[in-house]
Order: sequence, then C-alpha cells, then structure tokens
Amino acid sequence: MTTQCVHISNLQAGIAAIEISRPEALNALNSEVLTQLITSIQKLQKEDDLSVIILRTSGDKSFVAGADIKEMLNYSSQQAYEFSKQGQNVFTALSDLPQVVIAQIQGFALGGGLELALAADFMIASQKAKFGLPEVGLGLIPGFGGTQRLVQRMGYSRALEWMTSAERYSADAAFQLGLLNRVVEHDQLSSAVETVANSIAAQGPSAVRAAKKAALAALSATGQLGFEFEAQLFSQRFSGSEAREGLAAFVEKRKPEFRSVRQA
Ligand code: CAA
Repeated sequence: MTTQCVHISNLQAGIAAIEISRPEALNALNSEVLTQLITSIQKLQKEDDLSVIILRTSGDKSFVAGADIKEMLNYSSQQAYEFSKQGQNVFTALSDLPQVVIAQIQGFALGGGLELALAADFMIASQKAKFGLPEVGLGLIPGFGGTQRLVQRMGYSRALEWMTSAERYSADAAFQLGLLNRVVEHDQLSSAVETVANSIAAQGPSAVRAAKKAALAALSATGQLGFEFEAQLFSQRFSGSEAREGLAAFVEKRKPEFRSVRQA
C-alpha cells in the first residue's frame, strides 16, 4: 500500500499549504513523493481563489534532506536521467504556479531539498536551518534544477562554490547571499510565514498573479537547455564507480573513498 506523504490544507482565505511528510527519512524525496507532489501542484494550480501557497514539511529537524539516496543506490544511468527529469518537471510546475509559493524552512535544506526550495518564489527560514548542495560528496551533482536555479539566485561564482564544496551554510550566511527573504527565531517561523502570506493575500488577487508572471519572465531567458544538460550529466554519474562508492558509503554510514575508485 502506498503511503500518502503529500497533503494539501486550506489555511486563511486565499492561502493554502502543501506539506510533505516523510519524517523517518528527513522528508527525502523519492519518486513516489515527487508523483504525489505533482498531483497536489496540479490541483492547486486550478484554484483561482488562492494567492499564496506555503510549502512546508513535517518534523522539526529537516525541511528536506535531498533526493532519496537509498532509492538512487542501484539506479542505472537511464533511471537516473528519468529521476532527474521527473524532479525537474515537478519543480518547474511548482515554480510556474500562478500563486506565490513561500518555502518554510525549519531545518536541513540539502541537495534536492534546497533545489525544491529554490523552485518556490522565496524562502523564509528559521535560524536553525542549514543549506547546502552535498551531492559531490556522493559522487553526484544536483539533478533537480539546482545547477540552474542557484546560479540564477546568487550568481555563478558563489553558486559554483556551493555546488563543488558540499559545504553546509547557516541561515544567516544564506541570507547574506540573497538566498532567503527572512531569517526568524525558530519558534516564530510559522507565524512569520503566515504574516507574509497574509500580506500578499490581502492584495488584489489578479494583480498578485500578474506581478509573479512578469517577474518570472525576467528569468525565462535561460531557457530549457541548461536543465537538459544537467539531467544528462546527472545520469552519466551513474555509469561509473564514483557515484556507486558515494551512495554506498552514505547507506553504510562510512566515509567514501573516491581516490581508490577514480573514474573519468
Ligand atoms: N535519502 C534517504 N534517506 C535519508 C536521506 C536521504 N537524502 N537523508 C537522511 N536519510 C535518512 C537516514 O538514512 C536515516 O535513516 P536510518 O535511520 O534508516 O539510517 C534517517 O534519514 C535520519 O538521518 P541521519 O541518521 O543521517 O540523521 P543525522 O541527524 O545524523 O544527519 C543529515 C542529518 C546531515 C541531513 C544526514 O542525514 C545527511 O547527510 N543526509 C543526506 C544529505 C544529502 O546528501 N542530500 C543530497 C542527496 S542527493 C540529491 O539530492 C541529488 C539530486 O539533486 C537529485
């Protein structure tokens, strides 16, 4: 039986929430969760009365700890390509929603979790939140649009440092780089998000949608080529030994030994 991990709830007038709930895996995204997410997105896309969607997850520790490493462990390159495309398509549907999407980040937003948050219109984070793209530590690269969206959001050099160092950043550091709209006390997070959502929901609903449409047009010049290139490079990682070692090391709770399994 499939467990329902993605739920929609209606909050105040004009505001709904999408909640991902897979706390036993720190809300990691497997293909089933992505399928459930696109169903919720498509449902809310048709709701003309909504101005704001809050994207949030359950548990105190993690927003989303990335794509599901256990699911990817034995992927072929073809499966990895399809997984990358699935994630990219879901996240693009999220970013294309007519409503303003606010990601509410309470904890880890790593790898695919950060990529998910980047597909929202903006992020509001707790001081306890942690951000980063640890994929290279697994012998991978970001595969859900992050290589494209992070460059758009913080510029090429800083984004490439995030992608290649696998470093983890505090909410304050992420705020200083322009990644976050607000950083708030941990126990104030949901009320801070609701305050911002309420202020948007109080405005002219079709004007809010028009503003988002116009702002998105400023980003669309990058086009689809970068996303396709990302999916190809992500899938190629699965044809050699480096990613096998990185993924296996995580699951076996040990450090990867990349130097002894070098691949081109
Ligand atoms: N996939 C699958 N399971 C995950 C997971 C992930 N991304 N992240 C955490 N989990 C699981 C752990 O395996 C563990 O399960 P078990 O109890 O069954 O062992 C459970 O969640 C709790 O995790 P930890 O015990 O590791 O918790 P921690 O507090 O010690 O560490 C953490 C938290 C730092 C977030 C650590 O879990 C971690 O490093 N997770 C992986 C982060 C990561 O590398 N993300 C990128 C994934 S690749 C990707 O996203 C590719 C892409 O772009 C498409």
